[in-house]
Amino acid sequence: MYVPEKVLTNAELEKRIDTSDEWILTRTGISERRIARKDESSSVLGAHAARAALADAGLSPSDVDVIIVCTSTPDVLFPATACFVQREIGANNAAAFDVSAVCSGFVYGLSIAEQYIKSGRYRHVLLIGAEVNSRIVDWEDRSTCILFGDGAGAVVLSREEADRPRGVLSTHIYSDGTLSDLIRVPGGIGRDGFSGGAIDPRQYCIHMMGNQTFKVAVKRMADVSQEALAFNGLSTEDVSLMVPHQANQRIIDAVGERLGVPGDKVYVNINKYGNTSAASIPIALCEAREAGRVHPEDVLLLGVVGAGLTWGAAVIRW
Ligand code: COA
Repeated sequence: MYVPEKVLTNAELEKRIDTSDEWILTRTGISERRIARKDESSSVLGAHAARAALADAGLSPSDVDVIIVCTSTPDVLFPATACFVQREIGANNAAAFDVSAVCSGFVYGLSIAEQYIKSGRYRHVLLIGAEVNSRIVDWEDRSTCILFGDGAGAVVLSREEADRPRGVLSTHIYSDGTLSDLIRVPGGIGRDGFSGGAIDPRQYCIHMMGNQTFKVAVKRMADVSQEALAFNGLSTEDVSLMVPHQANQRIIDAVGERLGVPGDKVYVNINKYGNTSAASIPIALCEAREAGRVHPEDVLLLGVVGAGLTWGAAVIRW
């Protein structure tokens, strides 16, 4: 994982907008978030995380067959941010492309990587979640700007022979485009083209119906998590650690309650980073592992929900 050095605390936000540390903490569980420097784009953050993941896996960049970057804050419209990461780390033998599923990005990317590995098509897939949400946040909108942060996380998925299923056991992804208005960045290029006129910066910021999102998020994440466990003949008692998308402490608590997973089996780090969209699960995975919370043979349950509306879950035997 890699997060920018700059920390933005709730206390600092109190000075900029009409809010309080207490409100943010009780409604979201967030105390602080990281903010990228001007020269730190998603590809820069992603490349840092990618190098760390490759070193951890004992691989060199030239071993990588495919680079998938999950991001909703790409460096530019094109080329893909994955191509910039490729250039940055020198993964010269890889194909590279981006996945756009916003906060569900990492599990969407995981489902693609899973197919490449299980089919035998590729040996090593570098999967990255990288976001600079601070660039698309309306810093005058107190209902959204408190939520988001910047960061990146990466994993390497490799094919190996094993006596029994290990690694990613299954992924389950869904979307419902009729809910596309819940969370969105309205500005773009494909719908309206570029008129050459004045651009309204707010069109390039996150718009969100927080309350409605909250309700659907809890139900979808809980339902798909149940489905993922049942698909593998597992129950919530088999889960060693749940690593949910870090959107809101209250969403995480409500999903855990619905599933019957006790709090001590749920990994939470939203307090330090806020919602880092596609980067949140790989950052949480990395910290959970470093904290000694992930052991061989453990069953991990990942759950996500994001704009689209998109949602999904994955079950991993570590
Ligand atoms: N500080 C203080 N007050 C705030 C505030 C802030 N930062 N943001 C909103 N408020 C106010 C609102 O203006 C409203 O005031 P009013 O009653 O006078 O109109 C009040 O708090 C309640 O607003 P509401 O939006 O109903 O609060 P909420 O309990 O739903 O919490 C969110 C707002 C955004 C924290 C919550 O809806 C949420 O987390 N939703 C999910 C969003 C999410 O995770 N999206 C990403 C999914 S991947």
